[in-house]
Amino acid sequence: MEIKKICVLGAGLMGNGIAQICAQAGYEVALRDIEQRFVDGGMNTIKKNLGRDAEKGKITQDQMKAILGRIKPTLDVKEAAADADIVVEVVIEVMDVKKKVYAELEAVVPQHCLFFTNTSGLSITEMASATKRPDRFIGTHFFNPVPVMRLLEIIRGHQTSDETLEVAKAWGKKIGKEVIVVKEAPAFVVNRILCTMLNEAFVALDEGLASAEEIDKGMVLGCNHPIGPLALADLVGNDTLLRIMDGLQKELGDKYRPAQYLRKIVRAGNYGRKSGKGVYDYTKK
Ligand code: CAA
Repeated sequence: MEIKKICVLGAGLMGNGIAQICAQAGYEVALRDIEQRFVDGGMNTIKKNLGRDAEKGKITQDQMKAILGRIKPTLDVKEAAADADIVVEVVIEVMDVKKKVYAELEAVVPQHCLFFTNTSGLSITEMASATKRPDRFIGTHFFNPVPVMRLLEIIRGHQTSDETLEVAKAWGKKIGKEVIVVKEAPAFVVNRILCTMLNEAFVALDEGLASAEEIDKGMVLGCNHPIGPLALADLVGNDTLLRIMDGLQKELGDKYRPAQYLRKIVRAGNYGRKSGKGVYDYTKK
């Protein structure tokens, strides 16, 4: 199956990164969101990232223009998806919202179109079964920041066909990612391990074992992690982390209970970098 056009639904943190690397790989891309400010925000991030690459001499000005020229920002789902070979759905991690998006999509996409969902832990099979193409549906889990992180975790739903898996693997390789194929399970492989560790850092903070800075310093210097777990939670989004932990607890039991402090800061709206405050304050330079 020849893939020419990718439709990315959702221009936020992950969506704009996926749109960028698809355009860099030569695909035509439609980047769709529900409000102009989200679309503009996504395009501005892409321009900033490509501008930085151009300044460093990683790409030329002409290449940057060509990449940007391949991305079409839009609010119109029909325009974005009507001729798409693949739709990568990157909307909020709420099952009912994702199902609604797929119902809307079914009415506009061509028969051959594949649905790739970027989820950090929701059931691929449940989403796929809400569509008319469960065989052409697969999970593609990216990592933040998308242009930098090398991994793509691919998750097969119960009815995903071998052909869809092969197309997803080839696409992942073409957009510059190393692929691992994992079985469907709550939070898959990487988030099951990573989010449990991030949550444990919140437990340590809750119990007053050390300050946030010391916990992060401990994991950076003691384990060679590029960034401490609490700083990483702020990067990922504390709301996202809490949703993943809630899902893990619901499906796998109390071993995965979210830390109280995590719940508290999410209730306070301290989602991390994206809201200006999380464990740390990003409003002051
Ligand atoms: N977008 C694009 N490029 C970015 C970027 C961004 N948001 N942030 C940093 N970069 C690039 C920089 O331009 C720089 O590129 P060069 O090597 O070409 O110069 C490179 O990344 C390193 O950046 P910096 O020197 O500014 O900063 P750093 O060395 O501290 O690295 C980091 C920043 C790459 C984010 C690093 O801290 C890191 O690897 N952190 C861990 C990230 C991680 O674990 N991500 C997974 C999160 S889990 C997840 O996403 C899954 C989920 O579902 C929850």
